[in-house]
Amino acid sequence: MTLNKNYTIASIPGDGIGQEVLPEGVRVLDRAAELYGFTLSWVEFPWSCEYYSKMGQMMPADGIEQLARHDAIFLGAVGFPGVPDHVSLWGLLLPIRRKFNQYVNLRPIRLMPGMASPLANAKPGEIDFLIVRENTEGEYSDQGQFLNRGTEEETVIQQSVFTRTGIDRIFRYGFETAMKRKHKLSYATKSNGIFIAMPYWDARAAEMAEQYPDVKVEQYHIDILSAHFVRRPESFDVVVASNLMGDILSDLGAACTGTIGVAPSANLNPEGEFPSMFEPVHGSAPDIYGQKIANPIGQIWSGAMMLDHLGESEAAAAIMNAIEQTLRDGPRTPDMGGTASTEEVGSAIAAAVQASSQAGDNEVRVQTGEQRSGTAAGEAQNRSGGSAP
Ligand code: NAI
Ligand code: MG
Repeated sequence: MTLNKNYTIASIPGDGIGQEVLPEGVRVLDRAAELYGFTLSWVEFPWSCEYYSKMGQMMPADGIEQLARHDAIFLGAVGFPGVPDHVSLWGLLLPIRRKFNQYVNLRPIRLMPGMASPLANAKPGEIDFLIVRENTEGEYSDQGQFLNRGTEEETVIQQSVFTRTGIDRIFRYGFETAMKRKHKLSYATKSNGIFIAMPYWDARAAEMAEQYPDVKVEQYHIDILSAHFVRRPESFDVVVASNLMGDILSDLGAACTGTIGVAPSANLNPEGEFPSMFEPVHGSAPDIYGQKIANPIGQIWSGAMMLDHLGESEAAAAIMNAIEQTLRDGPRTPDMGGTASTEEVGSAIAAAVQASSQAGDNEVRVQTGEQRSGTAAGEAQNRSGGSAP
C-alpha cells in the first residue's frame, strides 16, 4: 500500500473578504487533493487586524517560526479600517515575504473566455503574460526620517533600498522564465527621474541580459509601460518590475482583464529554503465585505499555483481547467456581471474539478503561472504546463 503524500499548509484568512474567499480556496484544493491522491493538512492562524485590536500586534513574536514549519502558506488578504494600512502590512505580510526570502512575486495576467475586458479590442487568449515583481526590497522600505515635525519646514525622507543581490536574483528569475516561454523580457524602470537607484537597476539588468543572449530585452520607463499595458497588452510576455512598480502594474494588468478578483499571486522562495506564500492580488475589500459576493477565483487560482509549486501539477491543471470552464459558463459574481455568491462560484469550481477528473479530462494543458527555473521538476512542469512556445 502506498501512503498518500501529505502537505501541511498554514492558512491565514486575514481580514475582510480574505475570510470569505479563503474557505473557497480550501474547498477546491481539498476536492482536488481527494481526486488526485494526496492530502492537505490545514493549520489556521487567526492573524489579522482583529487579532491586532486584541493583542496589539498582527502576529505573535514567534509567528515566523510557527509558519516555518509548514510546506506553504495560503493567505487571504490583510488590512481593515481602524488599523492603519502600513501597520497591518508591515506587521504581517511584509515580514513573511522578507524573512522567508520570497523574493519573487509572480502575478500571471490572462484574459480568458468569459472575462469582459474594458479594452475594446482585447480578445480572450491574447492577453497572457507574467509580472515578475521584486518582493523583498526597493521602494517598500521603513527607512528614512521625519524632520522638523510640527513646523512649517516639516520634511519626510523615505529611502529606497536596492541591493545587487536583490536586483540580480529577480532578473535571473525573469530571464530563466523568459527562456521557457517566448524568449522575451520587458522591464520597468524610471531612470530618467530616479537618479541613483534606477540607473543602477538598469545597469544590473544590462549585465544580467548578457548572460541570456537568446532573450530579447525591452526596457520601458514605467509611465509609458503603463500606457502600453492598456494599448497593446498582448505584446507582453514576461515583465520584470521593482516592488512598487510591479505592485501597480499588477492591478493595472488585472484591470485590463476586467476584474481584479481573478488575479492570483505567488510569493516564491525559489530555492525552497523557506515556505512560499500564495494569495490573491486583491486586498480585503471592506466595501463589499459581509455581502458574500467577493469573487473567489483569485484565491482559488493562487491555490492552483500552490499545488503546482508543491509538485502536484496535474491537480493544479485540473483546477485551472475548472476555473476556465466556470469563467466561460458561470456562475459569476457581481464584479463579472453576475449575481452569484462567493460560495456558489467556489462550489461550481469544485464540482467542475470533480467532473473533469471523472471524465479523465485531466490532461495538463493549462498554465497556472509558475515555472520553477533550472530544476528537473521545472522542466517537466514546463513541458506539461502548456506555457512554453
Ligand atoms: P482592494 O483590492 O481590497 O479593493 C479594491 C476594489 O476592488 C474594491 O472596490 C473591491 O470591492 C474590489 N475587489 C477586490 N477584490 C475583489 C474580489 N475578490 N471580488 C470582487 N471585487 C473585489 O484594495 P483597497 O480598497 O485599496 O484596499 C482595501 C484594504 O486591503 C486596505 O486595508 C489595503 O491595505 C488592503 N490590501 C491588502 C492587500 C493584501 O493583503 N495583499 C493588497 C491590497 C490591499
Ligand atoms: Mg497591490
